[in-house]
Amino acid sequence: MAYPSNVRIVEVGARDGLQNEASVTTEQKISLINALSDAGLRDIEAGAFVSPKWVPQMADSAEVIKGLNVAKEVNLSALTPNLKGAEAALEVGVKEFAIFTAASEAFTQKNINCSISDSIERFKPVVELAKANGVKVRGYVSCVLGCPYQGEVEPDVVLDVCKQLLAMGCYEVSLGDTIGVGTPNKVQALLTLLLEHISADKLAVHFHDTYGQALANISKALEMGIATIDSAVAGLGGCPYAKGASGNVATEDVVYLLQGLGINPQIDLERLAKAGWAICEALNKQPVSKVSLALQAKC
Ligand code: HMG
Ligand code: MG
Repeated sequence: MAYPSNVRIVEVGARDGLQNEASVTTEQKISLINALSDAGLRDIEAGAFVSPKWVPQMADSAEVIKGLNVAKEVNLSALTPNLKGAEAALEVGVKEFAIFTAASEAFTQKNINCSISDSIERFKPVVELAKANGVKVRGYVSCVLGCPYQGEVEPDVVLDVCKQLLAMGCYEVSLGDTIGVGTPNKVQALLTLLLEHISADKLAVHFHDTYGQALANISKALEMGIATIDSAVAGLGGCPYAKGASGNVATEDVVYLLQGLGINPQIDLERLAKAGWAICEALNKQPVSKVSLALQAKC
């Protein structure tokens, strides 16, 4: 089996994770992100410049980013749903914006209060601002394997939204299985279609682990040449607009899988697990990561 020789992990725990957990302090978020950087993570989503009325947990993203002390190689990104969010992110020096829409009209309405095509319109000035300031833009498409409101999602719709995001200037699109309903055969069918039109280096996978399929799905995506994986330390989080969805696949579990496949992601697993234990202590919960729990049991 030919797996990619280099795999990039995009750590989304401080955003996708914490947006759906009880609030922690700004200091605790800063410590988490600094610890993730110390563990070797180089792509870290640090917050979201969204409406605090919609997602209060992310209201302090500017303070978090201003307070960070991460390695200089770290690429910090943040969600920017509109120009207001992008301007606020730019002000604190964010070098990568993440814009987000979905392959489901119903989900897009619940999540960002507009249609898919209106969301693309809203992103145009965000991308313009990014281009004018040398900021990269990443795109997310949610609900690529199923929607909490409409159920089945057509792969053709996913393809269409991905093409629009890439055409407007995203360097990569992350495919979100927001409610974690996908299985490897569905992943294969979707990626087979997408890869007929889009090269593998422009796609990332973003699996939530609600039904315990995330690692199997990642393994399938790797087999198909996808080399960027989103994950969240300790399997934090979920999605505020997808009831019952669990967190992203845990970064500890992904790192262990990659090491087992002979792909060294250059991440210190022990330090990573410790970062997860610290934030879980702040949240008064156990990590949702088999690898983290196994390492904890050995300590
Ligand atoms: P809206 O209510 O339609 O927007 O929200 P609006 O323009 O009418 O503004 C309403 C109020 O929000 C105004 O304040 C604006 O100033 C303010 P008011 O006058 O009422 O006091 N506002 C903002 N404040 C701060 N930052 C901003 C901003 N924009 C407007 N950027 C909006 C539209 C997009 C803002 C809203 O729907 C929103 O913030 N949604 C965020 C939803 C969200 O963060 N969801 C979770 C992330 S997506 C996800 O988790 C999926 C992903 O992980 C992939 C996957 O798993 O599938 C990415
Ligand atoms: Mg997500």
